[in-house]
Amino acid sequence: MIEQLKVGSDNFCYVIYCPVTKKAAVVDPGFDATKSLQFLAANHLLLEYVILTHYHSDHSAETEQLKTVVSSCKIVASQEDGRRLPVKPDVIVSDGSQLKVGSVVLSFLLTPGHTPGGICIIVDEKALVTGDTLFIGDCGRTDLPGGSLEAMFQTLQEKIMSLPDDLVVFPGHDYGEKPFDSLGNQKRTNKTLCARTLQEFSLIP
Ligand SMILES: [Fe+2]
Repeated sequence: MIEQLKVGSDNFCYVIYCPVTKKAAVVDPGFDATKSLQFLAANHLLLEYVILTHYHSDHSAETEQLKTVVSSCKIVASQEDGRRLPVKPDVIVSDGSQLKVGSVVLSFLLTPGHTPGGICIIVDEKALVTGDTLFIGDCGRTDLPGGSLEAMFQTLQEKIMSLPDDLVVFPGHDYGEKPFDSLGNQKRTNKTLCARTLQEFSLIP
């Protein structure tokens, strides 16, 4: 199960949980840990992991607040972005890493471009949590420190485009015309996925 929570003005935080074991993971608590903590409490969920799709503070700022409330939870990030975080990750993930939250299987993809160590998460082969790699109708900025247009193009073409169409994309910001969408529809309509060459990709406004 996956719950999309709006935090701040347009960030999305996610709570991924197993309804049987009540185990849960929070992805990108952002500037407002109370949002995810309230959802965990209301649904009697046990926080096992806090996963950070990338190090930017609008996604990771209140990670420590979660750790303060649930000291046993483990912070999960990639090697590259993990060392840029204000907190030290407990678990480092890379391409192909997997974690289980009760019976829910999380598979990780390393998706550099917006940051050097951005990650996406495939949830039970049904959902794709994309952080700031892919938005509905767009992709993340590549002009911030550590960003790379070339790396983003490669990530979108080689990693994202090869995933199944029926995955539901859950982005890191509410920037699109809808809060989530099928990857198949995004492959057809998202200008950043439709670009066929790096040249074409670099000319997208
Ligand atoms: Fe970001």
